[in-house]
Amino acid sequence: KGHRAVRATNLYGVDHRVDAPAREAINGHKGGILWLTGLSGSGKSTLAMGLEAALFARGVQTYVLDGDNVRAGLNKDLGFSPADRAENIRRIGEVANLFADAGLVVITAFISPYRSDRDMVRAMHADRFNEVYIAATLDECESRDPKGLYKRARAGEIPEFTGISAPYEAPEKPELLVDTTGRAVAACVEELADYAMQRFVTG
Ligand code: PPS
Repeated sequence: KGHRAVRATNLYGVDHRVDAPAREAINGHKGGILWLTGLSGSGKSTLAMGLEAALFARGVQTYVLDGDNVRAGLNKDLGFSPADRAENIRRIGEVANLFADAGLVVITAFISPYRSDRDMVRAMHADRFNEVYIAATLDECESRDPKGLYKRARAGEIPEFTGISAPYEAPEKPELLVDTTGRAVAACVEELADYAMQRFVTG
């Protein structure tokens, strides 16, 4: 694509005069990233929004980046080919980086089906990246089918649909695994909030 052909040169980074420890001292917690990954219908968005509310109620500055929202704006030029998904995840990784630099606990909710894309984001963030596998079997997600997408994918109406005609590579060593099968949303949110508090909030 043309707009990607010309690369900027003569760039000089500038240093901030407010550093991470200063932001942490004001906020009472570190900035960082909870990177939720899982199949469509696994519960990523629901849990991300529940977690955002739970953390905010505990005085944590937090913000959710969610698939359908980001794809409607920043990433509206991207589809679901492997290359477009990689670019989707790269941009979200960069945005999450900026928000975490600003001191927030960023919660991302994207399928992010490729291990290599998630590892690329992990490499960008070093130790403040936390991969959180929102686990539910394909059968379970397909029976939930909250948006009717699995039904349409099975009918051949949605090409490259994750789990049906495109792969989902489950995390091998996530920092946290939340199994949503047969569990109440509130219980899963509580598990996530406990993890986030011990990970980011200074004692
Ligand atoms: S990815 O793989 O991380 O780039 O996907 P993501 O940005 O999270 O977007 C997933 C949402 O897009 C809708 N959708 C599809 N998902 C998967 N495969 C295909 N082909 C597809 N087409 C549209 C769908 O609503 C996904 O939302 P969730 O919330 O995961 O169901």
